[in-house]
Amino acid sequence: MAPREHRPCFGVSVETRAFLFATKQFSQKQNIRKDESPRPTAGDEKITMMTYKDFTNYVKLYPDENGRFGEYGGAFLPPQLVPVFKEIDDAYETICHSAQFISELRRIRKEFQGRPTPVYHAERLSRLLGKSQIYLKREDLNHTGAHKLNHCMGEGLLAKFLGKKKLIAETGAGQHGVALATAAAYFGLECDIYMGDVDIAKQAPNVTRMKILGARVIPASHGLKTLKEAVDAAFMAYLNEYEDAIYCIGSVVGPHPFPKMVRDFQMVVGIEAKEQFVEMTGLLPDVVCACVGGGSNAAGLFTTFYEEPVEIVGVEPMGRGTSIGDNAASITFGKKGVLHGFESLLLQDEKGEPLPVYSIASGLDYPSVGPEHAFLHDVGRVQYTSVTDEEAMEAFFYLSRYEGIIPAIESAHALAYAMRYARENNRGSILVNLSGRGDKDIDYVFDHYGCGEKFFEKK
Ligand SMILES: Cc1ncc(COP(=O)(O)O)c(C=O)c1O
Repeated sequence: MAPREHRPCFGVSVETRAFLFATKQFSQKQNIRKDESPRPTAGDEKITMMTYKDFTNYVKLYPDENGRFGEYGGAFLPPQLVPVFKEIDDAYETICHSAQFISELRRIRKEFQGRPTPVYHAERLSRLLGKSQIYLKREDLNHTGAHKLNHCMGEGLLAKFLGKKKLIAETGAGQHGVALATAAAYFGLECDIYMGDVDIAKQAPNVTRMKILGARVIPASHGLKTLKEAVDAAFMAYLNEYEDAIYCIGSVVGPHPFPKMVRDFQMVVGIEAKEQFVEMTGLLPDVVCACVGGGSNAAGLFTTFYEEPVEIVGVEPMGRGTSIGDNAASITFGKKGVLHGFESLLLQDEKGEPLPVYSIASGLDYPSVGPEHAFLHDVGRVQYTSVTDEEAMEAFFYLSRYEGIIPAIESAHALAYAMRYARENNRGSILVNLSGRGDKDIDYVFDHYGCGEKFFEKK
């Protein structure tokens, strides 16, 4: 991709700017704290490839105590936030081993969220495509209609433990915002959700849901007015409110310990799915796949499969195509860089500034990706591929018409890969994380694609 014109960022202090946007050189120059852990293997040096046999005990070993997944992750923070994130990590490490916390979270998952969500065999769709068998982990049936509530209820419990009064977060598609507003109502906390103007218009039903649940929805009106800008605005607010509030990051991104915590809270998806799939079929799936925005639903499904002989595929949004600004395929095109307080693969210009991104799915258009995904890509345990807007929309309409399930456009990206796999291989089983339902998308889809006639006419 050819580099694009440099676009200045909105005016903030030097330290904050480093925190939000910094390239590595910038944060070093400004003496912003960064952890001193050694940088093993990948990157410029030779990468050690890992197979499923190397993944026993993986969750205990990664991330390390500095929040590193190999050379990615860490915490790039302004000084006043260093003790704040340390307190969050200490609190999490304390409560995640406590029997009381575990049993309370289990009760919430069962009685409030309606877990376990089922695994469903999409038989009609599978038959239409040939001999591959497509299965769906139905996170669309999780309370609030997406996987996001899995980490929000955990983050809410953590906030209560820390004595915080308010939850703060960003949202793209609105699913994390709705889930966090739900957790705030459940735990009796205040809630501020930051959302780009573009997404506020595109995902209007979720904005209404957040407001009904008692949250304040605060527009992010700078830059492209989408997910990255919502994260900028939420971090800025948090810098002034960290004593009373906790920033509940919506994916496996952000400074340590969030990538670890969000992954751990999401692991329930894969633990359930593995057991359910084996119970249904007597075997493990040949392939598991999930869409990757920040990467939380993918981490949730994938983690229990790393140590199994299963192919694992993450699906990035290729949007309108491969040109800069037309996609958000951060692993496919990104280079190592720092954004929003963590180091990962980042779509960036030659100065290290984040490039503009686009996807039809508001929850996927982020210029970086969770550090664990960057690591899993480098060591070769997860394959990352991409699908375009049009492929995702075809999958959206096929699942609706052939199975009676309207998926979130984000989840339709994973399904589009499963459909491609079925057409190309005509054998095997593929388990897709159906991360959310499509109610939030129907007005936008109907305005732009009608009832999907073009996808059925061309056959
Ligand atoms: C339904 C759904 N799936 C997937 C995503 C992408 O997020 P992540 O990659 O963290 O799972 C979102 C984000 O909003 C979403 O709403």
